[in-house]
Amino acid sequence: MRKINVGLIGLGNVGSKVAEFLQNDPRFALLKIVVRDKNKKRPVVLPPALLTERISDVVCHPEIQIVMDASNDAPANIVERIIHRKKWTTRAAYRHTVLASKKAVAFYGRELVDFSRKHGVEIGMEATVCAGIPIVRLLREGHIPEKIIEVGGILNGTTNYMLTKMSEGVSYEEALRDAQTLGYAEADPHEDVSGLDAAYKLMILSGLCFGQWPKIKDVKVCGIENLGPIDSTMLQRLKRRLVASARLSETGLELEVTPRSCGEDSPLEKKFKATDGVDNLVYLKTVSRELYFSGPGAGGEVTAMAMISDLNHIASKLKT
Ligand SMILES: NC(=O)c1ccc[n+]([C@@H]2O[C@H](COP(=O)([O-])OP(=O)(O)OC[C@H]3O[C@@H](n4cnc5c(N)ncnc54)[C@H](OP(=O)(O)O)[C@@H]3O)[C@@H](O)[C@H]2O)c1
Repeated sequence: MRKINVGLIGLGNVGSKVAEFLQNDPRFALLKIVVRDKNKKRPVVLPPALLTERISDVVCHPEIQIVMDASNDAPANIVERIIHRKKWTTRAAYRHTVLASKKAVAFYGRELVDFSRKHGVEIGMEATVCAGIPIVRLLREGHIPEKIIEVGGILNGTTNYMLTKMSEGVSYEEALRDAQTLGYAEADPHEDVSGLDAAYKLMILSGLCFGQWPKIKDVKVCGIENLGPIDSTMLQRLKRRLVASARLSETGLELEVTPRSCGEDSPLEKKFKATDGVDNLVYLKTVSRELYFSGPGAGGEVTAMAMISDLNHIASKLKT
């Protein structure tokens, strides 16, 4: 069986899980991995010759067919490596790419989708929105044939974990400390608690559902940092969740990320109440029905598996 040659960018939480998978799957040959610092200690054991610090060793490698980008590089750099707008090297050919960076897709989604269509280059982005729920391909491949009028959900696992804890009476500070200890929240949790992370995912969902790729300034964002404590008798009734929604209205697309009550008296209660802890939920409303998808929120392993799902999809296309 002829192997498919893969290159990897980034070997952190996500990248090391991707590398581990590729090392153990006989369908693929992992030819090169680019990192910032070759001498850093890694959680995965790899032949040292695989590692390089030169991006071009992966992006311009003549035999690499698919690039898995699991870096946390600046979105503009990630996109540049795919599109080569600056024509930074004449040796570079377009490569099928699988992305993990939600900011790259949130900020440059239209360009990436247009580029993919125009040049017949696959760009996988399943890992960029609620990686544990295979929602991206479902939308990109038109599995929802009716017009979608609203999309949203609980898109950030860290804040959902914190709000779940807070609805059990734990303070904001304690819930955040717990989330950090368990590895759900970053050392700098700003993008999670401010609602920005959910907003980026909502921007991607809007692009995929409506063909409209909004800017971050178009999203009304309110995080959970300023939520005051609530009376213990109200905790269950209020059961707050950070809810993202993008809805088509007569005046255009309305995008919002805000804490909402999903407690006993809320119309959201029935569908949203089971989404506890780091779980995510995505809902879609069409003219005739509502669909709900739930699954584990992102973490290194879940995100890596979503990238592998994209890889499998591209590999099956290459075979045919
Ligand atoms: N972790 C999650 O749960 C999660 C969930 C969804 C999406 N994502 C996305 O997945 C991506 C990776 O996340 P992570 O948690 O794995 O981050 P991470 O642990 O910080 O790892 C980032 C990796 O990228 C490498 N890197 C950064 N810039 C580079 C460059 N210019 N050239 C080569 N390598 C470069 C770093 O190299 P060094 O190791 O040498 O510094 C590191 O190995 C991010 O875009 C993140 O937003 C992560």
